[in-house]
Amino acid sequence: MGLKTVSGQGKTRMAEASALDLNGVAVHPGYLDAGAQAAMVEDLRGVIRAAPLYAPVTPSGKPMSVRMTAAGRYGWFTDRKGYRYEERHPAGGAWPAIPESVLSVWRDLVSAERMPDCCLVNFYAEGARMGLHQDRDEADFTWPVLSISLGDEALFRVGGTARKDPTRSVWLRSGDVAVMGGAARLAYHGIDRVRPGSSALLPKGGRINLTLRVVD
Ligand code: SIN
Ligand code: MN
Repeated sequence: MGLKTVSGQGKTRMAEASALDLNGVAVHPGYLDAGAQAAMVEDLRGVIRAAPLYAPVTPSGKPMSVRMTAAGRYGWFTDRKGYRYEERHPAGGAWPAIPESVLSVWRDLVSAERMPDCCLVNFYAEGARMGLHQDRDEADFTWPVLSISLGDEALFRVGGTARKDPTRSVWLRSGDVAVMGGAARLAYHGIDRVRPGSSALLPKGGRINLTLRVVD
């Protein structure tokens, strides 16, 4: 396993200096500038062409309000059979590679030695949300989960490692990056709502969230 850096330590980037602590989650406001966001969206168009967004269903049969796809060796997946990682898109093809523009954020904030296995792509149209949950389908929780927000603003809620723990919220804006690591790796988190029309990045509106994970 490669060398890991603790977010916020030993870094020289300006964005590091202004990271906010939300119940242990390091939020880096404006980490990606407008040009970097636009370039990443272009790269993601290629991902979505190769692996189209689909409508996931929870194990209890409830449709999720986000649409989803993935890049990397594995895609996080849910259907009636349960939450898991899959090596193939539901249409049968392998997931496309994680774009270099996305990997470079991981390299800067997490590790240059070990790349993530999965880049989960969540698309929030108006009205979509994500209930409080933990990311716990990975083998090694010492690796953080890194989250990139693009497009419309979203109200991000973070609690502790028990569902009943008190929560705090922040609006994530386009270009913000959050790192859930250390004691916050298993923090409950979710998206209460998105603010339609709050960003011009995506011509038809909506929000893309990327989460990068080491899976096994
Ligand atoms: C997630 O927890 O999978 C998504 C978080 C987000 O959309 O910011
Ligand atoms: Mn999550």
